[in-house]
Amino acid sequence: MPSLVIIGAQWGDEGKGKIVDALAGQADVVVRFQGGDNAGHTVFHDGRKFVFHILPSGILRPRVMNLIGGGVVVNPQKLVEELATIRLPESAWRKRLRLSGEAHLILACHLALDQAAEAQRGNRKIGTTQRGIGPAYADRAARTGVRMGDTLDPDYFRAQVKTCLDSHRALLPKDRAREVCNVDRVTREALALLRPFRDLIVDTGILLDTARRKGQHILYEGAQGTMLDIGAGTYPYVTSSHTIAGGVCVGTGIGPHAIDRILGVSKAYATRVGEGPFTSELHDATGETLRRIGGEYGATTKRPRRCGWLDIVQLRRAARLNSLDGLILTKLDVLDGFEQIGVCTAYRCGKKRWTEWPASPVDLASAEPIYTFLPGWKQVTTGATSFQELPAAARAYINKIERWLDLPVVMISNGQDRKQLITRRRAF
Ligand code: GDP
Ligand code: IMO
Ligand code: MG
Repeated sequence: MPSLVIIGAQWGDEGKGKIVDALAGQADVVVRFQGGDNAGHTVFHDGRKFVFHILPSGILRPRVMNLIGGGVVVNPQKLVEELATIRLPESAWRKRLRLSGEAHLILACHLALDQAAEAQRGNRKIGTTQRGIGPAYADRAARTGVRMGDTLDPDYFRAQVKTCLDSHRALLPKDRAREVCNVDRVTREALALLRPFRDLIVDTGILLDTARRKGQHILYEGAQGTMLDIGAGTYPYVTSSHTIAGGVCVGTGIGPHAIDRILGVSKAYATRVGEGPFTSELHDATGETLRRIGGEYGATTKRPRRCGWLDIVQLRRAARLNSLDGLILTKLDVLDGFEQIGVCTAYRCGKKRWTEWPASPVDLASAEPIYTFLPGWKQVTTGATSFQELPAAARAYINKIERWLDLPVVMISNGQDRKQLITRRRAF
């Protein structure tokens, strides 16, 4: 299967980075198609920990071409900083990285607007990563955005920056506006930062089509997760891009037929960072234990992640929204010490029992989880290299998930390392 999409099936941080890194060994191209540096994808490479925010997780592999698609929003400052932190020689990343001219830029004004919007929302704040993601996508939709390809002509670029900043100046406090809405300064700084990338700008659709015709293996790396999708997620507590598999086409320039396989990544339990509904959240000691054992603190913002049991109602929605062909279950080892393991198999709203996602946000907010408890295995799973080596209770847990979702669990991750991955069915 040469074109494979890896999608977060929950609220992000499912371990997509680890999975993409593991599969990148067989890939020719790795592509980010949405989101920006709100993402934090953890990868261990040669004993070193990397957290990728804007770079695709294949960047450390010499023979992989890494693309940043047109659906991505790029903060030039962060792009330059991240390339510096990974300590890759310029000659190496110049060979391995290409960017779409259609990708929108995150400018300082977008960060200021993100901050101001959150402050204004008060107790209805979203809990954004404060990376300027929402305002950059809002500019894109309002046609006041600035694109990577605009940098190819400095006069045109300045005109685009002016339109963008003129539309925001009055919305910000005066001193903040003076700081971030100076057209000449913003133009000069962005052009200087992006000069080294000018000859890396490509039409990603053409590049991907050519790669596909050659039979190359293409890996589409989702950021965030299904329930943070701007349309299908827990709106308004979502990010501002299409995080679901449909986002691949609009974010890269390929059509739906150019995708062969779609796999969703889910933890063996559930987490969420930021505000918004999370029916199976545990506010008790069990939630604390999941956070402690799972190391559940944000890779981007270091915020503690909210923790809870796996939610089948939510995953069923993810399976449908993404046309999932299979599930990759991560962090199974985190459940090793639990006496019993809860799974939310339905919601109760008033007197009603729901097995599908409620349409009304008010119903969703008041939904109570209905749990099924399965016996824990109380054994270490990290060393297992095959499904058969897993304890019987762990296998039973996975088999139950497959049956509830009518979806095969094709891989199981049982540790942070690239090698701690059980493959039941080849991904490519
Ligand atoms: P992403 O945003 O989906 O790439 O996920 P993050 O990197 O934000 O968060 C996942 C965290 O879980 C990282 O710290 C990973 O190193 C870690 N991780 C991934 N898979 C496993 C696993 O199977 N077991 C354990 N214990 N940790 C894992
Ligand atoms: P990865 O790719 C988890 C969440 C934020 C907030 C909401 C909106 O590492 O899985 P934004 O800054 O995007 O406007 O914030 O989305 N969020 C994530 N949560 N993982 C992520 O990325 C996230 N990116 C954004 O916490 O609730
Ligand atoms: Mg993350």
